[in-house]
Amino acid sequence: MNFDVELIVRSFPLLLAGAAVTIQITALSVGFGLLIGMFVGIARLSKILPVRVAAAVYVDFIRGTPLLVQIFLIYFALPIVLGTRIDPFVAAITACSINSGAYVAEIFRAGIQSIDKGQMEAGRSLGMTWPQTMRHIILPQAFKRVIPPLGNEFIAMLKDSSLVSVIGFEELTRRGQLIIARTYGSFEIWLTVAFIYLLMTLTISRLVAYLERRYKIDDKH
Ligand code: ARG
Repeated sequence: MNFDVELIVRSFPLLLAGAAVTIQITALSVGFGLLIGMFVGIARLSKILPVRVAAAVYVDFIRGTPLLVQIFLIYFALPIVLGTRIDPFVAAITACSINSGAYVAEIFRAGIQSIDKGQMEAGRSLGMTWPQTMRHIILPQAFKRVIPPLGNEFIAMLKDSSLVSVIGFEELTRRGQLIIARTYGSFEIWLTVAFIYLLMTLTISRLVAYLERRYKIDDKH
């Protein structure tokens, strides 16, 4: 077997452009996921039963079915209901955001529940309402605790976003497949693709470790 270094050098800019797209889907999806997850995470703890049940059904359905199937549902099944095609980019972002939202909801729920319940009681006894105490007392403390698991979610989504390659969306993995279809350089290209993913995940985990240290110091003041 000969190892074609020149192929790697030639394909690298194309793969890097794919990696930029991967970061874009991940950031958008986890961004929307944060919005969804914060509300659903709080809804899971609501005193209103239908709200709690709806949130639980969403989280269970999304976490209990494969992301790949959810992508197929949105890209192939939903257009039949809507009567119109969905752009692969829109389908990819929608599927990944809805997916990430469920995982983020669980992270927030756990973060909120980890705050001593005396904090809620203290807020309430000072005359604050439940939403006020949640917003001004509980959530600011919970935010610091959810940083490490949110970092993990970002890394997980970055890797799992490779699944959107199946609907032809050209992120890093799909770019790799397309280059291999032209050049047959499976070994060189998959190795390079893996290396680029590794570079991205390592960078993010360092970044999260840094944020974690920063907020720990803040805790003392
Ligand atoms: N691998 C799991 C699946 O296929 C999880 C995918 C989404 N991961 C995430 N952290 N949002 O269902």
